[in-house]
Amino acid sequence: MITCYDYSFARLLAASPVDGILVGDSVAMVIHGHPSTVTANVGMMRIHTEAVARGAGGKFIVADMPFLSFRKGVAAALDAAHVLMSAGANAVKLEGVDGHEDVVERLVQSGIPVMGHVGLQPQSVQAYGGYRVQGRSEENAREIARQACALQQLGAFAVVLECIPAKLAGEITTALRIPTIGIGAGASCDGQILVLQDLLGMNTGHRPKFARPFSDGADAVMEAVANFDAAVKAGTFPAVEESY
Ligand code: KIV
Repeated sequence: MITCYDYSFARLLAASPVDGILVGDSVAMVIHGHPSTVTANVGMMRIHTEAVARGAGGKFIVADMPFLSFRKGVAAALDAAHVLMSAGANAVKLEGVDGHEDVVERLVQSGIPVMGHVGLQPQSVQAYGGYRVQGRSEENAREIARQACALQQLGAFAVVLECIPAKLAGEITTALRIPTIGIGAGASCDGQILVLQDLLGMNTGHRPKFARPFSDGADAVMEAVANFDAAVKAGTFPAVEESY
């Protein structure tokens, strides 16, 4: 899977072999420049989900339930999920499970496929005091495994494992019947997900070690922009054949 937030990239992903698209709440950071995902809200997720759905050509789309949207009770969570599904999502993803088991169960019963997300839960960054690998201690590892099993039990169809030791991710993957999708969780997961801008190499700031750039995207953009600028200043753009 790959994250995507807009129509033009969704059109490219539609023609790609990837199995699914996540309209992640990381949109708040990657596209809107916010310091965390905590500021994502249902309105923001709706606009980006609609844009992706217009371009995705039938690819499976998961939309993130943003911060606290699923922690204000079942009715509020159903309202938020309604907005995202109406925007074109095929499923929703939400972080954690403790305290909102009823929400997961009710969404699933309502015909809304739910993807879980355990390990590092970026919406809880303030509680962690920073973005840290989770599950390093035996106790925390067992806790994460328990949460993943609980999500399966409640009817989740898949679970994202973020930033946990590869060994733990492998144990969880073996224990679960539903697929695990890893990010910073080693090679034993059933699938992998990366943020599109990270894999394109567009991220010139801090890059977590799992976010391998598969392209020199930032260099390609800078080169194209510099070439345009030079051509305009040299008077070679636009050419006669590019004019009316
Ligand atoms: O919002 C996001 O991009 C995510 C992925 C990191 C899994 O949740």
